[in-house]
Amino acid sequence: MPLGPKGVGPAPAIWWAVTVRWPEAPGPADLSEAMERVSGILYAEGAPGVQYEDGAPTEAEWADDMPQPALPFVSAYFRDGADWPVRRRRLEEALAGAGVLQVAAVQEADWAHAWKKFFHAVRPGERIWVVPAWEDPPEPGGLIVRIDPGMAFGTGTHPTTGLMIRLLEHHVRPGRRWLDVGTGSGILALAAWRLGAQVGAVDVDPVAVDAARQNIAAHGADIPVWLGTVADVPASRPLWDGLAANLTADIIRAELPVLRARLAPGGTLLLSGIIEERWGELEAVLATQRLSAAGRLCDSGWVAASLSVP
Ligand SMILES: C[S@@+](CC[C@H](N)C(=O)[O-])C[C@H]1O[C@@H](n2cnc3c(N)ncnc32)[C@H](O)[C@@H]1O
Repeated sequence: MPLGPKGVGPAPAIWWAVTVRWPEAPGPADLSEAMERVSGILYAEGAPGVQYEDGAPTEAEWADDMPQPALPFVSAYFRDGADWPVRRRRLEEALAGAGVLQVAAVQEADWAHAWKKFFHAVRPGERIWVVPAWEDPPEPGGLIVRIDPGMAFGTGTHPTTGLMIRLLEHHVRPGRRWLDVGTGSGILALAAWRLGAQVGAVDVDPVAVDAARQNIAAHGADIPVWLGTVADVPASRPLWDGLAANLTADIIRAELPVLRARLAPGGTLLLSGIIEERWGELEAVLATQRLSAAGRLCDSGWVAASLSVP
């Protein structure tokens, strides 16, 4: 186990690996249903990615205190933070009886290796490929977004990101001005840029801002990234033709007046990150801002919507 400063005690965890195992493998149909249910719970609690193993032998695991898996498991990472104890308790309750639950700390030194198991090239829609920075693109010459997520959210494998990429492919027109709100790794800003937009990005998390700036620089793209909320994006800039916000229902609700204020008349607001059960309530709040959903996509219990400003 890596040691902390001056070699005293273990280095603090920066992520938590949550694994659910099935010591008695259920039949294949029951197993895939059980795995899907568990992955839904992990995503709903905010896991940026979920990994499935169906029981085939795998390479030795990276976490010291986990045995090498020989049986099926589903695992996910959660970033450490003040809300982790509450989140962990909710996970323990929701996953009780689903399988054998293990929680292990992941230190920074292990993180890059751990991520690589989760992240692979994906094409969530029809045109944009999201490819790990360390892999060759499957279709050279396509619209490729290369991402090294570091510790930020946004690899394209999460349903909320995939839904947003599909919406961007449909709505972005070359030369229009788009703002990516909650940019994480910079993935949606780069997708909009690949589709020909003039793009800006903003995130409240300095770790995300660094990751986004690095990914953007690696593409040679001219995309400013601001630290903060939409209110911190210089108001001197012209209004945006489109905003893409993959946040949560609560954050969208809180940010809605300022999102609305920064959109040009006739502009498009794309929202993702909304759990299906919260959609009805959010739709009512959107109506108070004279925003009604023009289109809606769903995947694995998540909703994304496009709205137009009158
Ligand atoms: C679910 S991640 C989305 C990342 C990426 N855009 C994607 O689609 O994969 C949400 C991001 O929003 C950021 N965030 C949360 N609240 C925010 C706010 N009020 N304004 C701007 N960014 C915010 C978080 O730091 C996080 O990086």
